[in-house]
Amino acid sequence: MLSKQHKYVLIPVDLCEDGSILGEDVFTESGKLVLSEGTILTAELIEKLIALGIFTVSIQAQLGLDESNNIYVNDNHKEVIEKAYQTLDTIMGMLANRKPVSIKNHEQELQDLLQSTISTGEIIDILRQVQAFDDYLYKHSLAVGIYSVMLAAWLKLDDKDIKNVGLAGILHDIGKTKIDKELLSKPNSLTGRQQEILERHVRFSHDIVKFCGFHDSGMLKAILQHHERIDGSGYPERIKGNLIHPFAHIVAVADRYHNLTTDQPDKKRINHTEALKALRKEAFTCLDAKTVLTFIDGMMGKYSGRFCKMSNGQSGKVVFINRDDPIYPIIKIGKGAESKYIDLRFEKNLSIHEIL
Ligand SMILES: [Fe+2]
Repeated sequence: MLSKQHKYVLIPVDLCEDGSILGEDVFTESGKLVLSEGTILTAELIEKLIALGIFTVSIQAQLGLDESNNIYVNDNHKEVIEKAYQTLDTIMGMLANRKPVSIKNHEQELQDLLQSTISTGEIIDILRQVQAFDDYLYKHSLAVGIYSVMLAAWLKLDDKDIKNVGLAGILHDIGKTKIDKELLSKPNSLTGRQQEILERHVRFSHDIVKFCGFHDSGMLKAILQHHERIDGSGYPERIKGNLIHPFAHIVAVADRYHNLTTDQPDKKRINHTEALKALRKEAFTCLDAKTVLTFIDGMMGKYSGRFCKMSNGQSGKVVFINRDDPIYPIIKIGKGAESKYIDLRFEKNLSIHEIL
């Protein structure tokens, strides 16, 4: 039984087939159980789920689905994700309370999450679980580490550098524990003086990590320079172009993408397609082009084969990534005889709102 291995596919309810078997219990938004794991879906039950406003369900690789064409979710990462989150809570909590902390003693728990991401490549499922956490700084730190480690692998860095870039991603904002929480709660609407104080976090992060015994120069530069921009518009040094370390380009792209796609205390997120488009624009002005284009290719590769919700509310599945323009893939909308294929290169008013 696949459900015993916690393996299932997340699918929009309106694309479920008669005979699909639920891989997990289904609850209403208020937490009331609607259907139990193992239930065989019928047309009536599918209608009921739609009427209740339930958008997705997890189903097993059973009747009515072609297993080879679906991406299966594996929630075996749960333990490493929770451990990494707890570890970050411990480290940042101690720093915020001005208590001494040894990051080295906790490094393994953070590396376990990075290793799990690299070895399985299941970045979307891992990030979905990370995004469910409440604390913005902790989930941002983990997510930037996850994006950074994958991007470092896509850029074909060696194993040691991949590990260091991933850890730099997790620790890049650790210096924010030294900044007033009120400033952190409105990062997009600060006065000049407040912005100046916020910008100090890169130096704090660098110094904390160095003080804790990390001496890899690429890792330290990635942390110190993650807000530098190739046109000199960044901080803290306003350095330009190739004076910025390649590892810092990686963390900068990861940081930017997570910021764009996540609700912040004072800013609403944009969808993944819009965020990739925004990054691509910035690739030729302030972010490193090769790093951005590699990130876009890598992320779109991960979207291939997954179900999605479109910007017009329809459900679909990403079936083909156009190599010349990966942000605009081909989507299969609907199911059975009623399904149709849409090439987003020619439907630019339509975009992927959410990847499942
Ligand atoms: Fe930062």
